[in-house]
Formats: sequence, structure tokens, C-alpha cells
Amino acid sequence: MDRIPIPDKLMNVDTAKLSVQDQEIDLPITVGTEDEVGMDIRKLRGTTGAITMDPGFANTGSCESTITFIDGEKGILRYRGYTIEDLAEHSSFLDVAYLLIYGELPTVEMLETFKSEIARHSLLHEDMKKFFEGYPATAPPMSVLSTIVSSLSAYYPSGNTEEEINLNIVRLIAKLNTIAAFSYKKSIGQPYIYPRNELGYASDFLHMMFAVPSEEYEIDPLIVRTLDMLLILHADHEQNCSTSTVRMVGSSGADLFSAISAGISALSGPLHGGANTAVIAMLEMIRQDGGDFQKYVEKAKDKKDPFRLMGFGHRVYKNFDPRARVIKRIADEVLGKLGIDDPLLDLAKELERIALEDEYFASRGLYPNVDFYSGILYRAMGIPTNMFTVMFSLGRLPGWIAQWKELKADPATRIYRPRQIYTGHNQRNYVQIGSRQHLHP
Ligand code: CMC
Repeated sequence: MDRIPIPDKLMNVDTAKLSVQDQEIDLPITVGTEDEVGMDIRKLRGTTGAITMDPGFANTGSCESTITFIDGEKGILRYRGYTIEDLAEHSSFLDVAYLLIYGELPTVEMLETFKSEIARHSLLHEDMKKFFEGYPATAPPMSVLSTIVSSLSAYYPSGNTEEEINLNIVRLIAKLNTIAAFSYKKSIGQPYIYPRNELGYASDFLHMMFAVPSEEYEIDPLIVRTLDMLLILHADHEQNCSTSTVRMVGSSGADLFSAISAGISALSGPLHGGANTAVIAMLEMIRQDGGDFQKYVEKAKDKKDPFRLMGFGHRVYKNFDPRARVIKRIADEVLGKLGIDDPLLDLAKELERIALEDEYFASRGLYPNVDFYSGILYRAMGIPTNMFTVMFSLGRLPGWIAQWKELKADPATRIYRPRQIYTGHNQRNYVQIGSRQHLHP
């Protein structure tokens, strides 16, 4: 599907006109560096008394941003101008994190400083271990992650100066790795494994996840590189549900830890980051049901059936999600090198083939998204299914931080406060408790 063309008329004018009855209002036109066009409705309500209705915000721009560009029709994703394919191949996760948060790729010295600061802040306050102990072993890891991140604001002041804010940024990146691994160790009853400063970010995570005190743990460089690449692919995605949540919470003046904790909660839902877990559950279900793909494609198309093909479809991509393309390619390569024959990979490919040939999916631009193949790679690394969305959070953290920082620095930022159209009762008289039978027929 081609990119939705921007009418020339809109590109070449400064304002659009909206008429409401006998009133006409000028809407200034904003054009981005990739020719995206927005009509500025900031004066709409003040002039006409009316608001816009856009449930799900599919037509609503909440900010201008210099961080990430997506062309959903062409399947393009770039961070700060660099393509996701280039970054996945040549960069490292902390290099990309620096790029997203500070706007440019770091020099060797800058990157070394950034890495060593992160390594030195990876320990948790010892008292925080008590939090993990308070949770049942069955606690959903995303709930644990979100609440423990929120509690960081009890340990570290929110910070007002640039220096203090940068310190909290480093703390958060460093500690999220440790919090994620500790939550896993707690859930399986193994002792916590402390971070080691000489290890890189992805290596340290794998070490904290899988090492035990009783024996040496060897880190496979292929798994480290694959994990690093997966984190890069998840690092930002402009104004998605969790990022908009981070911005919304940040817009009230709440501190970084509180905003990111809210973002983690938003990410946990099955329509967002939680889809990576749901994909594996769906593939397992199809396999156990005899591998009848067509049956599940039909169920997904049936509007009376709540079943959807998890890992398919995207609000912005109406073409292949470029992240899914990279993951699909490396899934084959990595599983081959690790000597893993995962039947779910073949199942996923077959399901993708059948769905893409189907008119329902083609006409709606429904393609596999980032979550469709990522779980297969996480499985190959030994990461349990209930930790997949936690992995997504680790990857998305630099994007959330960059967006929070941009929001804070933007003079156009106002508290996020949408309007509504009220459709409830008009004013009515209070009913005494003894006379309410008629309210519940
Ligand atoms: N299976 C079957 N039909 C679908 C699917 C699907 N996975 N996704 C969308 N549709 C249909 C939907 O029923 C609608 O049909 P119609 O026009 O006939 O009413 C049409 O496609 C448009 O869908 P929508 O729900 O209006 O689109 P949306 O932009 O509101 O939702 C989505 C986007 C990602 C929530 C949705 O595609 C979905 O539920 N996908 C499955 C969950 C999933 O994989 N989520 C991960 C997204 S990628 C990671 C991330 O960034 O979060």
C-alpha cells in the first residue's frame, strides 16, 4: 500500500479553513520535516465552542517531536534520522539509548562514560530486596516491575537541575535491568545474582537472570548480540500507548520514575507489549488443537468472535512492520546457529503465509508486527514467556526517557487534559435511599 498522498493544496497553504454554521475559523497548518501535515486546532473551542471527537486519537497529534519518524504506509522506522535496519546491524543498545535521549550518536569517550556510569548505578538499595520478598512467586512480572520502578522515587529525589535529572536517567536505565532480573529470580525461588560492572548491559542482564552462585555461568556472545538487537528494535516508537502515558503523567509535573512506572503498566496490556506473550499462547493453542491455521484465521475474521490474531495489525503500520522483518530474518539465523528446532517458528511462518493471502488481512493492511516473532527469539534464549513483556520494557525505556525529557523541555507543553462529550443524565433530583426501587427495574 502506498503512502497516503498529501494533497498539494495542503502542503502549499499556511492555513486550512473550517466553517461551522456562519462562522469560519482559520486552522494554521504545521508541516513536519518528512512532510507530515497537521491542522492546528488550538483555537477551535475558544472560537466555536466545539471540540473534536477522536476516540483512540488516531487523527490527533499530541506534540511535535524530533525523536522518531514512522511512515506506516511504507514500513519505515527511524530514530533521530537513522534507519532501524542500520541501527540494528551496526549499533549497540546503549549507543541507541544515548542517541534517543541526547539527540546524537555518542563519541567513543561519551559512550564509555555513559556505559561505565550505568554499570556503577546498577545495584539496588539493599532495602529494596524486601519489596521482592513481599510478592507471591506468581506475581505478574510487569506488576512487580512497575511498582518497584515507582518506588525508586522514594529513594532518589526527583531532581530539578539537568545534572540531577541525568543522574536519575542513568539510575533508571541501570536499575531496570537489575529489577527485571531480580523479579525473575524471586519468582523461581533462586538467590538474587548481583550485577557485575565489567559486563555489558545485555550480558549483565543474562548473567543476573541465569547465573547461580553454585557454578560458573558462561555467556553466549550470540545470545548477547541477539538480545542487544532486540532491545534496539524496541527502543522507541513515537506516540504509542505507553509513551503517551509517560508523557501524560509527565505533563502533570510528576517525576521520571512515576511517569515510567505508568508507562510500564500501559505496556503490559495484550493489545500493546503484552501481545508478545499472547502470541506464544496463541501459537501453542493452535498447535495443541491440531495445527488448523485456517480455523483460527476464520475465527479472527469473525466479528462475533472476540479472537484476534495476536501479533498482527498495527495502528500505524499498514505494511510490514520493519522491526518484524528484522526479527523474522534473525530468528532463522539464530535458531539455526543455536541448533534449536522450535516448531512454533514453523507454525508462525505458516500462519503468516495463510493470513497474508487472505483478503480480510490484505484489505485492512494487517501484517505481522514486532511481537509476532520476538517471542520465538526470547524462547531460544531461555527467557520464560511471562518475562517477554518485561524484555519489551527494558528495550522501550530509552524511548520513554527521551520522550519525557523532550516533553519537559518543550515550551508548548501543557498538562494533558482531553475533553469529552457528556452523554449521561441531565440534572435530576436526589432520590432518598428508601425510594430507589424504580432505579433498578
Ligand atoms: N486480527 C483480526 N482482525 C484485526 C486484527 C487482528 N489482529 N487487528 C485489527 N483487525 C481488524 C479490526 O477488527 C478492524 O476491522 P474492521 O475495519 O472490519 O472493523 C480493522 O482490522 C482495524 O483494526 P482496529 O482494531 O480498528 O485497529 P487499531 O489501530 O485500533 O488497533 C491493534 C491496532 C494493534 C490494537 C490491533 O491490530 C490488534 O488488536 N492487534 C493484535 C494485538 C497486537 O498484536 N498488538 C501489538 C501491537 S505492536 C506492539 C506495540 O507497539 O504495541
